[in-house]
Amino acid sequence: MRYHVTTFGCQMNEHDSEHMRGMLESLGYEPAPQRSDADLILFNTCSIRETADNRLIAHLGEAKRLKREDPTRVIGVGGCWAQSIKEEVFARFPFVDVAFGPGQVHRLAEFLASDSLSAQGYFEFEGFTGELPEKRSRSFQAWLQISVGCNCACSYCIVPSTRGREVSRPIADLLEQAQRMVGDGVREITLLGQNVNSYGRDLRPSRASFAQLLGELDAIDGLDRIRYTSPHPKDMREDVIRAHAELPSLCEHIHLPLQSGSSRVLRAMRRTYDRERYLDRVALIRERVPDVALTTDIIVGFPGESEAEFEDTLSLVEQVSYDGAFTFLFSPRRGTEAALATEGIVPHAEKVARLERLVELVQRCARERAQRFVGRTVEVLVEGTSRTDPDRLRGRTRHNKVINFSGLARPGELALVDVHSATSQTLAGEERLLARAG
Ligand code: SAH
Ligand code: SF4
Ligand code: F3S
Repeated sequence: MRYHVTTFGCQMNEHDSEHMRGMLESLGYEPAPQRSDADLILFNTCSIRETADNRLIAHLGEAKRLKREDPTRVIGVGGCWAQSIKEEVFARFPFVDVAFGPGQVHRLAEFLASDSLSAQGYFEFEGFTGELPEKRSRSFQAWLQISVGCNCACSYCIVPSTRGREVSRPIADLLEQAQRMVGDGVREITLLGQNVNSYGRDLRPSRASFAQLLGELDAIDGLDRIRYTSPHPKDMREDVIRAHAELPSLCEHIHLPLQSGSSRVLRAMRRTYDRERYLDRVALIRERVPDVALTTDIIVGFPGESEAEFEDTLSLVEQVSYDGAFTFLFSPRRGTEAALATEGIVPHAEKVARLERLVELVQRCARERAQRFVGRTVEVLVEGTSRTDPDRLRGRTRHNKVINFSGLARPGELALVDVHSATSQTLAGEERLLARAG
């Protein structure tokens, strides 16, 4: 039997898909190079914005055609979109055999091992996908799911309803899994959670903290790099910032989602911090880790966002001068508070115009910030060949910058690279061949 998985959405979905693959291969399934070669066609879906829904629906059209050609094919839909429309999946898309939410990835095995009744749905929140077998796309990099769910109530966001309440994995399990990964050749681990820095507060009998987890992971021999995503500004405590300054394997990059630079809009978004508090966190981070790379997420056109409030976002971006940012048009999501707004709706054209102004500023800041690397020698974890030039290599710096360079290092090796130039997105350089980093 052969399977094919298409993944949409965030790193958590990438992670969940690696576990779907691992689980399927432990059941004897083999990967199919293309969807049309597969007996089991899976979609791991996202519902964060309307564009994500639309993209998926186009792909489902092809699955429908393939199912018509061969009705023995099994079509499965997992992830946040499936969770957000639950049993409706089968009424709207009758060719779907099995649908499951992010908390039910393990049930896929159960479904496949049964007599495969059609139209089965699994939508409870239970268990951690991170505990299932996994098949990593790169042998030297791994995701580590430290918690599931989210207890925040950001008024625009569908995630709390698709991934449930926050539950942390026990620290001993995480350390054991990380040890095992390092034993298998992993050099870089990215910790995943919707709100990683609230990790551990729900653990009983003894609580744990995110900073403690970072410290214990750093002590693992052979683990060169630790990253995490995403922290919430409200939980960005001094101990986590100190960890960045002190722990050798913790990378100099913090993705700190802003969403808006206006305190009024932040309140309407229920982010629980204001502009001053956010700037105060940034100041503390920059004081302790002066060279840190800061990136963020920003939403434009939230209901009620005025021109002046949008300009507050621009001025904050200018002040912080991010190394990069993901920028989004506000998209009303079913079941969320912000989707109920009837007043202050920002017209689409205005949203797009604001986004363009923001993107221009973000790119200028990113380009300027990136110039600080020119002339420096940076440590690069080699990921493969450059996407634009097969004679060059591609990797990532500790600051999470993509770098294309000439050299001889192999994927999975740490190379020392002299940086010659920088754009807003990437660096370019040349490997120092006489001094290999590791
Ligand atoms: N838990 C993470 C990631 C959430 S989703 C966090 O809080 O950082 C990633 C990003 O998508 C969010 O940070 C937000 O900027 C954006 N986003 C979420 N819901 C959105 C919506 N309804 N419209 C537009 N962007 C949205
Ligand atoms: Fe969504 Fe807010 Fe939770 Fe992030 S912290 S997943 S934006 S509700
Ligand atoms: Fe991720 Fe999309 Fe769900 S961003 S958490 S897969 S809604």
